[in-house]
Amino acid sequence: MVPTIVVLNGPNLNLLGTREPKIYGSDTLADIERQVAAHGKTLGLAIEFHQSNNEGVLIDWIHAARGRAQGLIMNAGAYSHTSIALRDAVSAIELPLVEVHLSNLAKRESFRHHSHLAPVAIGTICGFGAFGYLLAIDALAHHLNIKGSTS
Ligand code: DQA
Repeated sequence: MVPTIVVLNGPNLNLLGTREPKIYGSDTLADIERQVAAHGKTLGLAIEFHQSNNEGVLIDWIHAARGRAQGLIMNAGAYSHTSIALRDAVSAIELPLVEVHLSNLAKRESFRHHSHLAPVAIGTICGFGAFGYLLAIDALAHHLNIKGSTS
């Protein structure tokens, strides 16, 4: 069975590439999806990649991962700072989550310093731009003891 990783992206991340590129970089979400898929392939992982601006849709995708996927990577965008519902969904499905943020939240406004997801994640990767998604794949592969992952 090929291990499956679900990668979820929240609000406004569909605008990557043109959205405040000084903060978020110039890669589009499609560029990131390609990089993640290629990196996943080298580790023998199947990657499912989704984006929604809708909190409920993200929750439905989290629920759908239960029993089907081995792990979750999520950049929930601004919902990270506001959504107890997303946090509850992650707790409910009992899958390892790696939280990702493109920007370094510690360097930004104080309302971005708190994440409701951080306490239910195995770890958070933040500040490395699009490369952070590849680091998250490595972190999850390592956590899942996937052969070929960094030990
Ligand atoms: C973000 C950081 C959030 O504070 C912001 O609302 C985003 C993107 C990041 O990737 O750096 O939409 O999650």
